[in-house]
Amino acid sequence: MALKQLGPDNASAYFHQFVVRGKEESESIRADILTEVGDGQRRLPRTWGAKRAAKMIGRSEGWLRDNDPDVPRNEAGHGRWTLARINELRKKAGTLYQRPAGSEPIIMAASKLKGGVGNTTFVCHAAHYFAMQGLKVLVWDLDPQSSATSILAALVPDAHLEDEDLPNSALLEDMSLFPGCIRKTYFHNVHLVPSNSALQDLDLKLASQQQSDSEFQIAPHERVRAALDLVKDNYDIILIDCAPALGMLTLNALMAGNALINPMRPSLLDLASYVMFTGSLQLFYQELAELPLKYHRIVLTAHKNTTGNERMENRTRAMYGDAVLTRRIMDSEEISNAATKLSTVYCLEKPIGARETYNRAIDTLDQCYGEIFEDLKRVWEMEGEDV
Ligand SMILES: Nc1ncnc2c1ncn2[C@@H]1O[C@H](COP(=O)(O)OP(=O)(O)O)[C@@H](O)[C@H]1O
Ligand SMILES: [Mg+2]
Repeated sequence: MALKQLGPDNASAYFHQFVVRGKEESESIRADILTEVGDGQRRLPRTWGAKRAAKMIGRSEGWLRDNDPDVPRNEAGHGRWTLARINELRKKAGTLYQRPAGSEPIIMAASKLKGGVGNTTFVCHAAHYFAMQGLKVLVWDLDPQSSATSILAALVPDAHLEDEDLPNSALLEDMSLFPGCIRKTYFHNVHLVPSNSALQDLDLKLASQQQSDSEFQIAPHERVRAALDLVKDNYDIILIDCAPALGMLTLNALMAGNALINPMRPSLLDLASYVMFTGSLQLFYQELAELPLKYHRIVLTAHKNTTGNERMENRTRAMYGDAVLTRRIMDSEEISNAATKLSTVYCLEKPIGARETYNRAIDTLDQCYGEIFEDLKRVWEMEGEDV
């Protein structure tokens, strides 16, 4: 019997075979997604039944029946409301949240050093949560892994996106191209600046570009901020999903952000990694940052309620006090299930697993984002008063 090859004779040819297999596979992943959930354009908008819709509007089901008798109905004859319709009814009822005049949109970078801590999960669910509260949301996927793009736009980034769909040219050559990179998603009021693996190129090119090389006089680490200046007034919240690294793109995100969220699993290695990260953050805010940080929280994610997790949670709270969000995002099968459907739990019309698991997932997410929303309202109210 022939021995298994332990290392390739020709590494380049060897990885070329891997590339070919990967390309074939991404076509078949694409086909699976199309049959299962449809792409970003074809996916139907999420709808809600009367009870939930009335709750979102802040009125009774009776009010809803009286004020919207012509809502489209499902086969069983039950009314189903889209978010766009709910927002119209919120306007009618006077319950649509309005950010106070004079307040600034929140630009929230979600970043960490360690991979797999729940950063992208946090960003995607935050986007859908805040849109469901009636806010206008932009997500900028600044991670070449592009999971947020997969989930929020329901597409396979390397198969479905061309170079001109990405912000590379805008950030390297011509800033006026940037607004054209923003796309609508299948979720009402959630827009996306997408990513695919070509974003690695942007990271490298920004790192090597001198200010004087470029057409415009903006430092390479301030390009994201300059791009967002063009569009930020169209949004209430801009969320930036960062890669698990402190490269040029993450630096850009931190420069652009007026808010910072650090997701962290309650584990020893995650805490150790965060301790290192705070060193970099301190240096960054000392040397580079110009804008004040209006909001910072550490959010504990994928909490399993084990004694080990509890112990790490207590330790994290003892170290960082109020900077740790009171509410935690619990570990949930429904949260990881939703990702495999290129979706979030908020976007699921029906539970994937057990109804109880789904309800618990919604509950933990609502509590966590509810706390953040209350905090952000306070930030906005204080700014609004200054006018
Ligand atoms: N609260 C949670 N419950 C269950 N699975 C989770 C939870 N948060 C994240 N995950 C899963 O963990 C993995 C890594 O999460 P992700 O958000 O992609 O992390 P990151 O962006 O930090 O790399 C994903 O498969 C995701 O579905
Ligand atoms: Mg991620």
